[in-house]
Amino acid sequence: MLANVQELTFPTRGDERGRLIIQEGASDLVPFEIKRTFFIFDTTPGTVRGNHAHYKNRQVLICVSGACTIKCEMPDGTKCAHRLDWPNKGLLIEGMVWHTMEEFSKDAVLLVLASEHYDESDYIRGYSEFRRLCTK
Ligand code: TYD
Repeated sequence: MLANVQELTFPTRGDERGRLIIQEGASDLVPFEIKRTFFIFDTTPGTVRGNHAHYKNRQVLICVSGACTIKCEMPDGTKCAHRLDWPNKGLLIEGMVWHTMEEFSKDAVLLVLASEHYDESDYIRGYSEFRRLCTK
């Protein structure tokens, strides 16, 4: 069975000019066609973003600059935290995972690759609603 949250390590290419990381949708590491990307930057210190789950949307998060922490809660209540602090680290978050993004460094740029177009009806924004759906 697929894990709800999975750490990914992207292969880094490099030569004397510097380093390069490539992600292609539906490759082994990004297991979906990428329909949308967005990035979070210039985050006010102390901010906690996210605080939601998706029904269907799958995402890969990569902190391409700086660092931030992603905290997740699975449908069975298991929790985990992942510090993203290097561009070759990714975090795959499946649907029905409650997640927050926090502890952003000043220079953090968090890139999100998403499997779905933006759709507000795909969001579960209430924590108690999320828990209720998980125990149904
Ligand atoms: P929001 O979901 O609150 O961000 P986060 O989960 O990171 O805290 O999104 C902020 C606003 O941007 C909200 O009005 C919805 C809008 N938005 C889009 O229009 N398209 C998108 O792809 C995303 C991620 C957000």
